[in-house]
Amino acid sequence: MRRTLIAGNWKMNLNLQQSEALAKAVAESADTDSVDVALCPPSVYLAAVVNAVAGSKVAVGGQNMYHAAEGAYTGELSPGMLKDVGCSMVILGHSERRQLFGESNQDVCLKTHAALAAGLTPIVCVGETLQQREGGETSAVIREQFEGSLKGLTAEQVGGIVIAYEPVWAIGTGKVATPDQAEAVHADLRKLLETSYNAEIAASVRIQYGGSVKPDNAAELLAQPNIDGALVGGASLKADSFLGIISPR
Ligand code: 13P
Repeated sequence: MRRTLIAGNWKMNLNLQQSEALAKAVAESADTDSVDVALCPPSVYLAAVVNAVAGSKVAVGGQNMYHAAEGAYTGELSPGMLKDVGCSMVILGHSERRQLFGESNQDVCLKTHAALAAGLTPIVCVGETLQQREGGETSAVIREQFEGSLKGLTAEQVGGIVIAYEPVWAIGTGKVATPDQAEAVHADLRKLLETSYNAEIAASVRIQYGGSVKPDNAAELLAQPNIDGALVGGASLKADSFLGIISPR
């Protein structure tokens, strides 16, 4: 049985005080007996958020990292640094990283290997643009990102990752994928897991949906058989709306 994972990707938002207050509010009220909950704040606030959720089951993750363990990489963070500060997860290959900062599948792949080696759970993001969807390329794009980002991993290693399907056209636009549209891609990803690895891995790996998830559309999305959680941007910035996604009515 796959346990639902609801993760908040705060992106480049909030200040220190707001980060601490939001993390505390989530830690106090989130129903972590029923679902796994994670917060991914800006990296400068990671330590404060780890501190704010201490004693709860809320996990903390980075939004990105570099693959090397240490060295002359100005401005970057290593997997070990994320671990050291109390993270258990890291988002990798988010479409904003791919589109705005030129991350390739190969970069994401190096990072995925490095995160697993450091004992972090990578949330590996894939997703097509509107142009690709309208051009009928969704399946091919998802397959290419899946294969390129996970190249060289053993089945056992893939068993330790989370995949996030985030259609680029649904991110921050208020245009959520319909439950059927999302489920179709999630089912394809599940099939890819089975053909590339095995049935056991396919049955156990969690696949989150991301893109304009809100309290009023979460329940229907999460009810789909292959949607195992949500990666939430805008609606994770307020305790009420994030908690409303964790426990949808
Ligand atoms: P929104 O929920 O703001 O659309 O962002 C989704 C996302 O990119 C999460 O990683």
